Amino acid sequence: MENVFNFVAILGAGAMGRGIAQLVAQAGSRVVIYDSNPQALESAQSSMTLQWQKMLDKERITQEEMASFQERVRLASDLKDLRECDLVIEAIVENLAVKTSLFLSLEAVINPQCLFTSNTSSLSITAISSGLASPQRLLGLHFFNPVMLMKVVEVIGGLHSHAQDSQRLCRFVTQLGHTPVLAQDTPGFIVNHASRGYSTEALRIVQESIADFAQIDLILKDQAGFKLGPFELLDLTALDVSHPVMEAIYHQYYEEARYRPSFITAQRLAGGLLGKKVAQGFYRYKDGVKLQPEEALVTRMDRDELPSVWVSSKAARRPELYTLFKSLNLQIETTAQPSAQALCWVAPLGLDVTTACVLEGLDPSKTVGIDMLVAPAQSKRWVMATNPALRADMKEAGESILRLDTKAVSVIRDSAGFVTQRVLACLINIGCDMCQQGICTPADLDLAATLGLGYPSGPLALGDALGGQNILEILFNMQTVYGDPRYRASPWLRRRAVLGLSLLHQEA
Ligand code: NAI
Repeated sequence: MENVFNFVAILGAGAMGRGIAQLVAQAGSRVVIYDSNPQALESAQSSMTLQWQKMLDKERITQEEMASFQERVRLASDLKDLRECDLVIEAIVENLAVKTSLFLSLEAVINPQCLFTSNTSSLSITAISSGLASPQRLLGLHFFNPVMLMKVVEVIGGLHSHAQDSQRLCRFVTQLGHTPVLAQDTPGFIVNHASRGYSTEALRIVQESIADFAQIDLILKDQAGFKLGPFELLDLTALDVSHPVMEAIYHQYYEEARYRPSFITAQRLAGGLLGKKVAQGFYRYKDGVKLQPEEALVTRMDRDELPSVWVSSKAARRPELYTLFKSLNLQIETTAQPSAQALCWVAPLGLDVTTACVLEGLDPSKTVGIDMLVAPAQSKRWVMATNPALRADMKEAGESILRLDTKAVSVIRDSAGFVTQRVLACLINIGCDMCQQGICTPADLDLAATLGLGYPSGPLALGDALGGQNILEILFNMQTVYGDPRYRASPWLRRRAVLGLSLLHQEA
């Protein structure tokens, strides 16, 4: 197969540059790596050789292949050595002035047909290109770390660039064995934008003293199928990387409430609790292994002490709640009103237990909430919410009842949308609004979120699975309880939900 680009220059021999160089050389193009620091160049070459040697040892490549990969890569400390290239991928320091100045110097020496790209994660492609004589020749080509393993690459068109160049870059990415997704030049592009809801909403839940870090991680992993909880993820990426990204996207969108960061990460960053790399973040680490805090032990009530249960007629998944209580051999009240002894269960979408009690005329001293958004068959954990007026014996009864079942149990303080509802609703809503803004296609959004973030499904497919109407109801009720524009529904979600359309649906 003919190469889309025959001779590729990589600017910057750091973590990203060397990974991109390895990938491009393996796919068959000639590569020249340029760096202002000669030691970085040497180190990149040794690191690539080491990677190829490992592949050879595992018999994933032959001796001849390794030799040809090495043969294709050259090092350069003078920009003139890049003159014949037909593609430049810049991966130097994340600084607008430094990047712009390097591209300006390059434009003076390099062949005019050569396409320029930047691997920037947070700067505007249009801003980087604006000083060039031919700004249309610069696009974004955003790889993820580690380059060989993260199979998605964002292709970003700036205001001046041409669609056919984006298409050519997509073909190039496919030739590298990765998946291209097309993005508009907007803060965070696709992947870093789509992930805003996950950590910032989890931080708000902690800030409200609803649940602690470890509880939230367990709930989102067990109820929603995430591989890593938001705090495990923040520890892995480290706060010196993720907190500035949270702030940058928030400010670039002129203080959009949906992306609002938290003082919690700012303070922990200042205190040096960066995450796994310093052995202390939201969790402590010993020899690189996370120390999981024990889940709180509760005293269980004896079965004969348990009260009868009464389920609100407005409860989400009411039949499944009855099935649960029947399977636990509880005494179930099916009367319109609960008896004086009954423990009442509400299962609202987006409302807190307090508001549900007031709206339904229930006694809060003996009412608990349960999150029934996710089908019990797909969830490994029950989440029960208290309320400020709940009696201690009724709290203990509620928890004891759920602990009769085989699933894990979390008890949290009152919260509009518990944990899972609010995090998923924010994630889906942000994804919907990205489509509304035309940042990417619905299909590319879901592809980028699964490949780039490792989410169990894309935000839109997730919204469809849970029901667009349900997500809309959660957001509407959360906005009512909290009065925060953060939870206002995107028009993309609102229109598709009320029209009964898939969130992936694009207008004809
Ligand atoms: P790095 O710090 O590992 O490497 C940067 C390299 O650029 C260094 O070797 C440095 O000597 C060289 N350099 C700096 N100024 C230069 C100049 N004026 N001329 C030539 N060489 C110069 O950085 P890293 O992590 O590889 O990031 C590079 C770019 O990729 C940044 O724009 C970053 O935002 C982006 N990026 C980084 C990711 C990551 O996880 N590290 C993920 C995706 C994008």
